[in-house]
Amino acid sequence: THATLTLDPAFTIGTVDPRLFGSFVEHLGRCVYTGVYEPGHPTADEHGLRRDVLELVRELGVTVVRYPGGNFVSGYRWEDGVGPERPVRLDPAWKSIEPNAFGLGEFMIWTRRAGVQPMLAVNLGTRGVQEACDLLEYANHPGGTALSELRASHGAREPYGIRIWCLGNEMDGPWQTGHKTAHEYGRLAAETARAMRMIDPDLELVACGSSGAGMPTFGAWEATVLEEAYDQVDYISLHAYYEPLNGDLETFLASGAMMEAYIEDAIATCDHVRAKLKRDKRIHLSFDEWNVWYMSRHQADPPTEWRHAPRLLEDHYNVLDAVVVGSLLIALLRHADRVKMACLAQLVNVIAPIVTEPGGRAWRQTIFHPFAQASRYGRGTVLRVEPNAPYAGDVPALHATAVLAEDGTLTLFAVNRSLTDALELHATVRAFGEPRILEHSVLSDPDLEARNTADDPDRVRPRPVGTSAIGDGTLHAMLPPASWNVIRLA
Ligand code: AHR
Repeated sequence: THATLTLDPAFTIGTVDPRLFGSFVEHLGRCVYTGVYEPGHPTADEHGLRRDVLELVRELGVTVVRYPGGNFVSGYRWEDGVGPERPVRLDPAWKSIEPNAFGLGEFMIWTRRAGVQPMLAVNLGTRGVQEACDLLEYANHPGGTALSELRASHGAREPYGIRIWCLGNEMDGPWQTGHKTAHEYGRLAAETARAMRMIDPDLELVACGSSGAGMPTFGAWEATVLEEAYDQVDYISLHAYYEPLNGDLETFLASGAMMEAYIEDAIATCDHVRAKLKRDKRIHLSFDEWNVWYMSRHQADPPTEWRHAPRLLEDHYNVLDAVVVGSLLIALLRHADRVKMACLAQLVNVIAPIVTEPGGRAWRQTIFHPFAQASRYGRGTVLRVEPNAPYAGDVPALHATAVLAEDGTLTLFAVNRSLTDALELHATVRAFGEPRILEHSVLSDPDLEARNTADDPDRVRPRPVGTSAIGDGTLHAMLPPASWNVIRLA
């Protein structure tokens, strides 16, 4: 079986916003405690930040990190996490004991060491406009007021200058502390945004969209929220998690197509409200939670006791999960004109590319690799790629995109979604003259369930084994079944 496509710099989708390669740190399970933060760990710095994790975060190529939740934020008092007094609280969202040893100050130090931009969420579940304004004043006001001086007294004289703010989290979900109707939330988001911009006009604000395309209110929720808050916000959020259900791997491999349909429906809804309100501005998308998550396993085994840093949502990813994550990255890149920010949820231990052992080592899960490669080679202009391929189930076997970097390097990201058949790819590259192949790396394995472990941390990784050749203005490549391929030309 073979597939064809044409790469031509004359046909483009848009420029990649580097914030497409974001991630997410929530106070959940072991993401913060024994994940990014573990005083006493052999690699911990003077703030208790694990240096081994910081190194992997930099290697992953993460650009922006959302914090502190997630469901957690909807019951969070930010004041608990700053200053010398750190009260121990219940976190109802994850049935956990929260010691508050890590808070905004520690997170900001961590972001600088990790080289990432912060994206902060405010609590619009149990709290409202005033607390969001207080947090913003504490974080961003230069000085001379009670809250800005409080920050200075906590050791941060310079304002944090946090630009990206999420107005709550998943407020459409009945599981959310302080869950609201679309009208209630839309009004609250608009009023919170208005007040926050009075304090600091230079903000980028994200309103909550639906918690997923499968929510009963999806579409209607976005439309109502935007009718209330269109002029006050810049982005609407999308969240999506994928997992194989009932052993159906073919449908699981088609997750990227589902993600693209979700993105296109969200864009249509934003633009419908734009037309209705007669506005010029367009709302962009912040896909600020996405990943493979074996959610049904978690739902079958919820926490039963109040514990500190329990092992929650610790998915151990295999080869197929990495191929699907690659396809989800392709889906995001193919919509780079409207999806400006995206966060792989989450970063450490909790449905994460990086795993740690308390007091022990840190290593890369299988899904680490497609993300790191996409972040590294997926910066520049996305080309419009329209593959022609046989079907694998309900979707074309080939899922692909291409990014032209400023230095002229062209990278083709391609997933073969067939579980059984290799794909022979013929890509016309004549418009680039006679480029040469720099690399064809492949992540695939006869054992789709192979995983990385503490003892064998590099069992699954991309290998430069791809068989590509160029002749007569055409790139010829073999894409193994269920594989993630990165082909770089110059
Ligand atoms: O990322 C895990 C959880 O998934 C987040 O807390 C929540 O926002 C979503 O439902």
